[in-house]
Amino acid sequence: MSSQPGLIRDRLLNDPEYQAQKKALLATLQKHSESTRSIHQTSSDAVREEFAKTLKHLSEMRGRPGYFPFLSSGIGAGPFVELTDGSRKLDLITGIGINFFGHSHPELMSELIDGTTSDVMQGNLMPGYEAEEISTKLLSLVGKESRLKHVSLFCSGTMANETALKIIRQKKFPASRIFAFEDCFAGRSTAMQEITDSPGYRDGQPTYGEVCYLPYYNEKWGIDRSVDLAVSHMQWEMTRHPKKYAGLMIELIQGEGGFRYAPREYYVRLFEAAQKAGLAIWADEIQSFGRTTELFAYQTFGLEKYIDVVTIGKLLHACATLHTTDICPRPGLVAGTFTGSFASLRTGRRILEILSEQGYYGKDGKIAKLSHHFESGLEKLKNGSCKGRIGVIRAIGGMIGFEVFDGSAERTKAFLMKLFDAGVVAFTAGHGPYIVRCLPPFGVMKESEIDLALSIIETCLLAENA
Ligand SMILES: Cc1ncc(COP(=O)(O)O)c(C=O)c1O
Repeated sequence: MSSQPGLIRDRLLNDPEYQAQKKALLATLQKHSESTRSIHQTSSDAVREEFAKTLKHLSEMRGRPGYFPFLSSGIGAGPFVELTDGSRKLDLITGIGINFFGHSHPELMSELIDGTTSDVMQGNLMPGYEAEEISTKLLSLVGKESRLKHVSLFCSGTMANETALKIIRQKKFPASRIFAFEDCFAGRSTAMQEITDSPGYRDGQPTYGEVCYLPYYNEKWGIDRSVDLAVSHMQWEMTRHPKKYAGLMIELIQGEGGFRYAPREYYVRLFEAAQKAGLAIWADEIQSFGRTTELFAYQTFGLEKYIDVVTIGKLLHACATLHTTDICPRPGLVAGTFTGSFASLRTGRRILEILSEQGYYGKDGKIAKLSHHFESGLEKLKNGSCKGRIGVIRAIGGMIGFEVFDGSAERTKAFLMKLFDAGVVAFTAGHGPYIVRCLPPFGVMKESEIDLALSIIETCLLAENA
């Protein structure tokens, strides 16, 4: 149901006076944001000192420093973003995948302005019509073969994942254990840090014996051996612990794990074995959602019919758990004060409209073209001027990663800092080799801006000994 014409809020949003003021506001905003459309270094020592002091204060309050000396002003243009020292960076990581449409995107700013006409936050008890609109849009896009029929909204990917785990456990009770994959990432709560295969992220925390890791697809082994290893391990574990396992959680494209993914056949054979064993199939698409050549990565791999639960977040500016009717929770299990802000849910709905209606998807869509451009630029560097300095390249849609030098954590971080100083922000992923992780704003990025990033990457690589 869309908003009703009689509503005072709609009368406000459609009021010509409001519309004219909004137009003027957007024009002023754009005038200023447009002047951030380039890389720029801060020239004043005084400003730099003040910035360092502010960052130090923030670090002290948090009790730990940030990864980069980064404080955003929240303003930018396309892939460029302004920092509060007045510098401007080319943003290839977008807050680990949030700002797919870059910074100060006019259509999203328009939704944000409309969002400010209402209360700030909404929740499960008293939702606003934005919750209905974004949910309707999401469910209309799950694909013809999909069995996903329900959606709940949350403020973090971790909470969407917690909900996935809870509803699977309730359905499969008393089975509670989960199969997950080596190198996976699921979030930062007590349960999600146990699923996450990074012991360093749960340093000093107890584990509850609820997770069994399976080997992920490895191209060195090929499909047959990879499937064999995962499925035989799964079956062996279920024989040892009958009726204990409830589901299988998988990132179809591992984010934190380093953008590893498998050919379709691997997933099909794995999922058929999991279904036969009575496991619910849960795809964590919090990082991959929207970024491949279809809206959901399970569509890109042709896996619609297998998925019982999918979790999404990040670029949507909202987070959600979608699931089948069969796995619907009983009352009381899923709730929470917040589902999102009025503005973020509006923006999320608009993002879905833009993504699904403006030529982003398909083999010849905008994402595929930009991905190919970035990947082939990296290949050219790898085989040309940067031979011996770039190793493995992993690119699928708007998830682009590459190994630098020896692929160690130390050299990758040193390279990222050099890149940052030169005006390009990227991040890291993987656990050996470590890779440079890019989640670029392909929603707005131009090929010329990718070329600019590539030329800075090249300069930074050549400035170091191989
Ligand atoms: C695959 C995956 N799952 C879960 C999460 C957790 O999401 P959030 O940080 O929004 O809680 C992330 C975040 O990086 C992720 O990449």
